Amino acid sequence: MTEDRIDELVAAAKEVRENAHVPYSRFKVGAALLAGGRVFRAVNVESASYPLSVCAERNAVAAMVAAGERRIDAVAVVTDATHPTPPCGGCRQVLLEFGRDAAVISETLSGTRMRWTVSELLPDAFLFER
Ligand code: THU
Repeated sequence: MTEDRIDELVAAAKEVRENAHVPYSRFKVGAALLAGGRVFRAVNVESASYPLSVCAERNAVAAMVAAGERRIDAVAVVTDATHPTPPCGGCRQVLLEFGRDAAVISETLSGTRMRWTVSELLPDAFLFER
């Protein structure tokens, strides 16, 4: 994964973030996911029935799967938080099932960046294997 590729992913996440539907939290999240050489962009979409709200990361996974891809190489997340926000616990689980070694990059609007792998964010994960 080149730094240029990561910069492109972060830029895509930053751009799509503007479209987040966040009437309740006002916390916009943009995600850009790289899989099979293609970039899938998504945002968080909230519902008046709050628990039905879906994070940007899981919406990006849904777009990837609908396009026939199954292996995540990297996902970038952009928010306006003070510190870079890693994906929530539920999103970590879903991301891991499509790429435990995938890179996760989070950047704030002010340009602070952090980077992990999915398995660093979710060690000893549950997998449905028997
Ligand atoms: N959110 C995400 O989109 N991704 C995360 O990893 C954490 C939280 C969204 C859910 C909700 O719309 C808003 O951010 C506040 O929690």
